[in-house]
Amino acid sequence: MINLILFGPPGSGKGTQAAKLVEKYNLLHISTGDLFRYEMGNNTPLGLEAKSYINKGELVPDSVTIGMLRNKVEANPDVAGYIFDGFPRTIPQSEALDKLMAEMDQKISKLIMLDVEDVEIVTRLLERGKTSGRKDDADEGVIRNRIDVYKDNTFPVYDFYAQSGTSVKVDGMGSIEEIFDRLCAQIDAIK
Ligand code: C5P
Ligand code: MG
Repeated sequence: MINLILFGPPGSGKGTQAAKLVEKYNLLHISTGDLFRYEMGNNTPLGLEAKSYINKGELVPDSVTIGMLRNKVEANPDVAGYIFDGFPRTIPQSEALDKLMAEMDQKISKLIMLDVEDVEIVTRLLERGKTSGRKDDADEGVIRNRIDVYKDNTFPVYDFYAQSGTSVKVDGMGSIEEIFDRLCAQIDAIK
């Protein structure tokens, strides 16, 4: 299996690139943000809980997010591999993911970070907010909070996987195709 963490700040292109990667590599794309938005759209208890954090640009508590991710993985065991998008976002989420992989006799093949400058992120998210319908894309204060949360809570995940030599960075600036080619080169270099 190829098990990827597609990593990077909000608006770095994780979702866009994951959609292209699943076609080429036949992997299952698991976006925890998309899973939360699905629950929010259906007004489930999980969605209502998540909404109170997401609309402020804060993180949903680890126990909730880890439980949801575990359910999704365990419901789809017979795949060629996973692309984790937007997860893990904290060190406890990383530890939980490694534990889940180990239970399946699997491991994370690579964490690939899309490196994008802050000014570009804000521009991209405000642009996306015009059509995404996402409350957390519509307000510059919420966007800045998401970037702060990324730096404080999420960036340490890069170093966590760097300890085992699993983390790499690719330039996330440029055209969608250019960035896609950089990602494919990293994936083709696995093993
Ligand atoms: O990944 P995405 O940007 O779609 O996530 C949107 C929001 O969902 C995050 O800003 C955060 O509020 C919440 N989220 C979370 N924990 C995750 C993934 C997403 O709290 N692991
Ligand atoms: Mg996304």
